[in-house]
Amino acid sequence: TMAHSSLIAILPGDGIGPEVTAEARRVLEALGLDLAFEEAPVGGAAYHQTGNPLPEATLDLAKRADAILFGSVGEPSCDALARHLRPEQAILGLRKELALFANLRPAKLFAGLEDASALRPEVARAIDLLIVRELNGDVYFGEKGMRTTDAGLRQGYDLMSYDEGEVRRIAIAGFAAAQRRRGKLCSVDKANVLETSQLWRDVVIEVAADYPDVALSHMYVDNAAMQLVRDPGQFDVIVTGNLFGDILSDQASMCVGSIGLLPSASLDEGGKGLYEPIHGSAPDIAGQGKANPCAAILSAALMLRHSLGQPAAADRIEAAVASALAAGHRTADLGGTCSTKAMGDAVLAAL
Ligand code: NAI
Ligand code: MG
Repeated sequence: TMAHSSLIAILPGDGIGPEVTAEARRVLEALGLDLAFEEAPVGGAAYHQTGNPLPEATLDLAKRADAILFGSVGEPSCDALARHLRPEQAILGLRKELALFANLRPAKLFAGLEDASALRPEVARAIDLLIVRELNGDVYFGEKGMRTTDAGLRQGYDLMSYDEGEVRRIAIAGFAAAQRRRGKLCSVDKANVLETSQLWRDVVIEVAADYPDVALSHMYVDNAAMQLVRDPGQFDVIVTGNLFGDILSDQASMCVGSIGLLPSASLDEGGKGLYEPIHGSAPDIAGQGKANPCAAILSAALMLRHSLGQPAAADRIEAAVASALAAGHRTADLGGTCSTKAMGDAVLAAL
């Protein structure tokens, strides 16, 4: 019998999303694997076409597909819209609807990029870490609103909460990732102040009993922010909540040179995944062919590894990106002159 070809949903989104996703798709197509692609609008692009940032047809495609390649959402023309119509609701909706709770964000310094890092070369060279960010809870999904206080002041609120089941499943993802890597897990919280974090810490310690081969440590998030810059080489896997993980991973990106280099995988319990760069729609450079496509291309590699059972193809893509960068091909964010397409060409040539 013929193996069925894998269906990849391509959701380019808005801003630089379509530019970087096109390069990632070209790289996937060049591998000669049995992949089928279907594209649908999402975010600002979908809002302008349909009045809905996450149309039913797009959600259907995402559910039907074996894996999703996502660009970015958040174009400024939508800034004045009500929250439920804003492009960002599309990515939040996909994460929630598909129960993509485990967000893996690897960060490693590519050879030759020492000068692009915000850190001293010897500090930057030691970076090889993975942030495992919870993606379905925390302040992003808690009760939120705007009200007026008794004193007549406007008050905004976003409830931070986690139940133990939510913490347990992301803790398991963190321990499992540490087992596959160097066996070190650092759980980042704010347990000195937050009840949410106290529960987080208690549950992580409970789960640790099942992973005696993983060395567990705990760190408050403010200290973690400092340690990421002081001595990032100390980290193997970091497991943390939605908000802390969002912030720490942008910070980690500057330690390795650019946010345009960092991919991510967002996985459900069965291994189905959405793959996207960690960056947003970058309105300041959108439509100019300046965006770095490496984060999107490396996201495609994560897709091959985590959802499509093609680790060798994933390795090939990662090696091609590394060799294109080592040969000096760089977009403007890394101090180079390559266009988005030229960078994609360089990766394809290396492949
Ligand atoms: P951003 O990540 O879009 O941009 C931050 C800075 O990094 C900008 O100076 C941008 O030019 C630069 N940058 C980002 N990606 C780059 C790339 N591939 N190559 C070169 N430079 C790159 O974050 P910002 O400006 O805070 O947010 C812009 C919009 O994106 C907002 O509407 C935000 O809500 C949305 N956003 C969406 C995300 C998503 O789609 N998953 C994630 C983060 C933000
Ligand atoms: Mg972010």
